Amino acid sequence: MAKKTVIKGTGRALPSRLVTNNDLAGMMDTSDEWIQQRTGIKQRYWIPEGQTMGASDLGLEASCKALEKAGWKPEDIDFIIFATLSPDIFFPGSGCLLQAKLGLDSTPAIDIRQQCTGFLYSLATADAYIKSGLANKILIVGAEVHSTGLDKTTRGRDVAVLFGDGAGAVCVEGVETDENIGVLASALHADGKGADALMTELPASRLPDRMALGLEGDETARYYPVMNGKSVFKTAVKKLPLVTKEVLEKAGMTIDDIDLVFPHQANLRINQAYQQFMKIDEAKIFNNIQKYGNTTAASIPIALDEALEQNLVGKNGDTVMFIGFGAGFTWGSVLYRF
Ligand code: UT7
Repeated sequence: MAKKTVIKGTGRALPSRLVTNNDLAGMMDTSDEWIQQRTGIKQRYWIPEGQTMGASDLGLEASCKALEKAGWKPEDIDFIIFATLSPDIFFPGSGCLLQAKLGLDSTPAIDIRQQCTGFLYSLATADAYIKSGLANKILIVGAEVHSTGLDKTTRGRDVAVLFGDGAGAVCVEGVETDENIGVLASALHADGKGADALMTELPASRLPDRMALGLEGDETARYYPVMNGKSVFKTAVKKLPLVTKEVLEKAGMTIDDIDLVFPHQANLRINQAYQQFMKIDEAKIFNNIQKYGNTTAASIPIALDEALEQNLVGKNGDTVMFIGFGAGFTWGSVLYRF
């Protein structure tokens, strides 16, 4: 018998404000045609204008749904892992804020700042905590509120049209079993030399007086996410097949053993290029970027929750691959069997 990390419940939360590509075209020089052609995105959800809502608020809604499906009360959680690049406040982390909102007062909570691979890093971390005996029932949350930090003018259009708000939560538990189930293998990577290719600079502790910059005009772009889209795209398309090979080798499996791939939802064209390169049947790749845009740390857990709801996976023996590439650069993959 060995301990396996098993998914017990999932949940998702999307804010109520539906923002179409045409809505964006009213804010900046862009078009539905450009956005759909280049990214596949048709719409995304943003928190309602003027509302005070952070990543932990969306995370709470997703967590409550996941806890209910798992049959857990908040008190059952041994450990909280919160993945986000858009924390509610500069510090403390959103994991602590969520913990309090769940009515808890001593459960440990950490934040993972790994952007689009936040969920992959979180799941691999949860697996290590469970297998080492440090915790047994872990709540993983990926949540983002991007919309309050996007440059919604034509200057920021290459980034602003991509991102949506949302949260996904997954309850995982250590289970003693002889069956080859749960998290089978994981592979994580980072290359900090790519940090400048996708980042939000400010506020920045490295500056002598970070809050007294007095920025004006073009300089205010430094408050917003900036991306070298082509560089990110090309690196993603190169790294994703490599990490696929690595994680499959670790598990002694081939791509044919995978029933469904959950790629991060950054750009439909990245996922299509990956699918064609790997020669995977289109039906074996789950995409929902069309509806939600890029919700970063939330993309994969939202996708998993939807796929389970649609009964696409979840039967005993179904094997899935979670995979992603994003800011950092970071990339990785986790294999999981139900
Ligand atoms: O999740 C984190 C990881 N992120 C990613 O993986 C994103 C990776 N990159 C991408 O998905 C793509 O590079 C983008 C979707 C961001 C951009 O697509 P692209 O095909 O690389 O376009 P581009 O940046 O080369 O821009 C082409 C043209 C430019 O105009 P000119 O120079 O050809 O006149 C841009 O100014 O499109 C223009 N453009 C836009 N036009 C209308 C850029 N953004 C927009 C926009 N609407 N929103």
